[in-house]
Amino acid sequence: MKTVKSFQKLKDSGEKIVMLTAYDYSTAQVLEEAGIDGILVGDSLAMVALGYRDTYIITADEMQVFVKAVSKGAKNSFIVADMPFMSYNINVEQGLENASKMIKAGASAIKLEGCNKYILTLIQRCLESGIPVLGHLGFTPQLMNTIGGHKIQGKTAEMTEEILASAQKLEKAGCFAVVLELMPKESAEYITKNLSIPTIGIGAGAGCSGQIVVTDDILGKYTDFTPKFVKKYANLHDVVLNSVNEYKKDVKEGIFPSDNESFELDIEEQEKLC
Ligand code: KIV
Repeated sequence: MKTVKSFQKLKDSGEKIVMLTAYDYSTAQVLEEAGIDGILVGDSLAMVALGYRDTYIITADEMQVFVKAVSKGAKNSFIVADMPFMSYNINVEQGLENASKMIKAGASAIKLEGCNKYILTLIQRCLESGIPVLGHLGFTPQLMNTIGGHKIQGKTAEMTEEILASAQKLEKAGCFAVVLELMPKESAEYITKNLSIPTIGIGAGAGCSGQIVVTDDILGKYTDFTPKFVKKYANLHDVVLNSVNEYKKDVKEGIFPSDNESFELDIEEQEKLC
């Protein structure tokens, strides 16, 4: 069973930490079977699973449904639940209440974006309540409107130092690891070297302690938008499309269902029907 301690152990031993997203029961089962170190029920599910325009729309109650499904599929995995936009920003009580919903739904930890005085207080209160927190710095999608779009962060030495200072505050506050999203690989490597806790990169190069990507992206299942940092390991969109087309053809031509996929009525009963 993986815990927050496993993350630190992996970093200290020099072994890379492998994380992926999951939003449903059967994907979670596969990730657990593959021995993935941590599963994130990311708010990216707003777009990928629900077709929303962005992550702003999804609520904590909606996220909870997906956390429940994933935790049922990956009972022995370390599951992190993303806290969606405005589900923790109003006050500490609101943040704690929504964080506790994620834990009750089966998550082992939560993820919070950004680092300011308020977030640091919330992290402290979560930890006092027994809720581990994964930080998230660099490009933070929930601040996209104030950042001004999908922009690479930490593009200068000064900006990199600023992100490092925030990461060090998150470390001091007790985060067990921090996600570094969308930044030059040298910046992420510099931040990683100056932290004790692990960094989990996404679009941040190979110098982080581990990596995370959206599973549907690497499987080629979600095709609305593919970021530059995604490597595709499959083309599930085409696999699914071809299979659906074959099924459609079989039904139209009367090939499916065949006797193999059908149940038979006893001869005597058939005769009665006649
Ligand atoms: O929502 C998400 O999937 C994320 C990424 C870090 C993968 O936050």
